[in-house]
Amino acid sequence: MSHGRFNNPVEAALTGLLDIFRKQDLKNHLKSEDTLEGKTCLITGANSGLGFGIATQFAERGANVIMACRSGIPEAGNKVMDLTGSSKVEMIRLDLTDLNSIHQFIDELKNRKVKIDVLVANAGIAPPKARKTQSGMEEMFMVNYLSKFIYINLMLKEGIIPNDFYNHKNGQKSIPRIIYISSDSHQGASGIDYEEFGIYKDYGVQKAINNYSYFKLVMNTFATALSKRLNKNGKMDVSVNVLCPGPVNSNIARDAPFILRSILKFIFKVFFPSAYKAATPVTYMASSSEFEGKTNEYMHMFNHKKMDPKVYDEKEGAKLWEYSDDVWKKIDESFMEYKLSQIL
Ligand SMILES: NC(=O)c1ccc[n+]([C@@H]2O[C@H](COP(=O)([O-])OP(=O)(O)OC[C@H]3O[C@@H](n4cnc5c(N)ncnc54)[C@H](OP(=O)(O)O)[C@@H]3O)[C@@H](O)[C@H]2O)c1
Repeated sequence: MSHGRFNNPVEAALTGLLDIFRKQDLKNHLKSEDTLEGKTCLITGANSGLGFGIATQFAERGANVIMACRSGIPEAGNKVMDLTGSSKVEMIRLDLTDLNSIHQFIDELKNRKVKIDVLVANAGIAPPKARKTQSGMEEMFMVNYLSKFIYINLMLKEGIIPNDFYNHKNGQKSIPRIIYISSDSHQGASGIDYEEFGIYKDYGVQKAINNYSYFKLVMNTFATALSKRLNKNGKMDVSVNVLCPGPVNSNIARDAPFILRSILKFIFKVFFPSAYKAATPVTYMASSSEFEGKTNEYMHMFNHKKMDPKVYDEKEGAKLWEYSDDVWKKIDESFMEYKLSQIL
């Protein structure tokens, strides 16, 4: 398995801490008139941490919010409605470790004829050790990367995210926006290891944070390849951008061993911004006219930045797509149906 940037979670948390003191160039760019009124916005992992903060901010700006969650149904949705006074909040079940759940989620969106204006691929984990999913995948690989590859491709194929690529003619005035929630810790992670791609391998707490930044690099490479595939020759179809929220007081360290969890909890609680506050750059990326028609952008909190140079390598993006298709094919009988739809 390739290597990420940090060797332990405390080092990662302390680096995050420094981010709080950095100048935020675009901090005042989010305006009250940047509304999401009438927009359908879907957020994965919206019952907790950053996702909950994003759902709350989106509801405040008038969005029709869909919270895609594996737990907290209906409490988290009710809480967003109580906090914001909005009644336009729905919840749909989605477990990203379970292919059946991903397919049911897509069917549910299709049946409800949902057309997404803003998708925030937020759900992510940092487990302290490897865990196997039903399909034999390693959980962090599946939740932080592969499931996103699968459900976003299915959303595009089914026109749930309106797009010209699959001939789901947009008809909408605005360009749909996909936002990947990443981490700046992907910078410096080593290149994609294709020999071990999609192969389950045990790891422990030492390696976990390493793998976390590595899978963020993998995800950002896919986001870049997707942006290129959808938006060719200067014609904008769907905007695909990536954002690191910086440090967030969230539940991400929930499964860490007791002592480590206590240290991280203390750092998070005392120093890290609330999930609501940390969601503000995401709201900016989702609602601001400054992002209309922009694609393959990366923001680290409220600063424009470049991602790791490896992420922009076109050959690498194409190779990753091929390997991801291969893993998907191995674990999902309905893969060929998806693949055929690209040929027909
Ligand atoms: N916290 C930070 O400092 C920080 C910094 C940079 C980036 N991020 C990124 O921010 C995103 C949100 O994380 P967070 O910090 O807000 O952590 P969090 O509070 O633990 O939230 C994670 C969310 O992901 C969901 N999730 C986990 N496994 C899932 C699965 N199998 N299927 C569906 N949903 C699943 C969780 O649902 P359950 O509650 O049901 O488990 C939860 O809603 C992640 O992508 C993370 O990498 C966080």
